[in-house]
Amino acid sequence: MNPVLLEVKELCKDFGGLRAVDGVDFQVREGEIFSIMGPNGSGKTTIFNVITGFYPATEGRVFFRGEDITNLKPHTVARKGIARTFQLTAVFSRDTVFDNLVVGHRLRVKAGLLGTVFGGRQTRREESKCREKAEEILEFTGLTRDRSRIAGTLTQEAQKRLSIGMALATDPQLLLLDEPTGGVNFKEISNLVSLIEKIKKQGVTVCLIEHKMKVAMELPDRVMVLNYGRKITEGAPLEVSQDQRVIEAYLGKSYAA
Ligand SMILES: Nc1ncnc2c1ncn2[C@@H]1O[C@H](COP(=O)(O)OP(=O)(O)OP(=O)(O)O)[C@@H](O)[C@H]1O
Ligand SMILES: [Mg+2]
Repeated sequence: MNPVLLEVKELCKDFGGLRAVDGVDFQVREGEIFSIMGPNGSGKTTIFNVITGFYPATEGRVFFRGEDITNLKPHTVARKGIARTFQLTAVFSRDTVFDNLVVGHRLRVKAGLLGTVFGGRQTRREESKCREKAEEILEFTGLTRDRSRIAGTLTQEAQKRLSIGMALATDPQLLLLDEPTGGVNFKEISNLVSLIEKIKKQGVTVCLIEHKMKVAMELPDRVMVLNYGRKITEGAPLEVSQDQRVIEAYLGKSYAA
């Protein structure tokens, strides 16, 4: 079995009186696609927000390659090798596809603007590396022909590929994808599925929040299912899809007989 890359231990997150994540444990192993499923409001996105330092954990710890990264700042987490996408596609809609890749990279790995303003040769070297990376990502995500287009004019599916590309531009070891096929029509989903498979083949570990059964059954090696902030089960996709507790969580008790 491959070594553990990410370990989440007894994670809890409260919002006022609401416990959105309630004692969740899981491990993601190097090279796998691990999927988090669960009904609306079950705490999936909150887990990503805590791992990446957008929200502090109420209780519990997050380890990346054995190092405790709980409550580090988002850019520090990004520098350690974890990148993410957002549930609502977040691209700079008035900029070109190419500039999105360059700017996305800068924002994620720079702590502040000081380096950019006062930096010398080092900054210029980084800048050219950034542009090289952007070229590579255009090709990888199939956006080469769209490089000069304004991002906001792309289809929803291409915007999703761009936002995945922005995350990949930081050369992550672990990529967190929050509903990468959300809002994309059925015919175009296969494009995104192939892209995620290609990412795995490159050796990047993927943790994926997914709602659509087709994607959730095809892509991941393992699936964890949440309900009301708690983990209800974990296992191979087929096994999990036949689990009574999962059927109940998604469809209600009357379907699970
Ligand atoms: N910033 C916040 N402030 C207050 N409550 C929040 C905040 N973020 C999330 N919540 C609440 O925490 C719970 C879990 O939300 P979360 O967004 O993690 O669910 P989810 O599983 O990603 O759902 P969906 O499938 O709809 O994206 C919900 O009840 C939500 O309303
Ligand atoms: Mg969510």
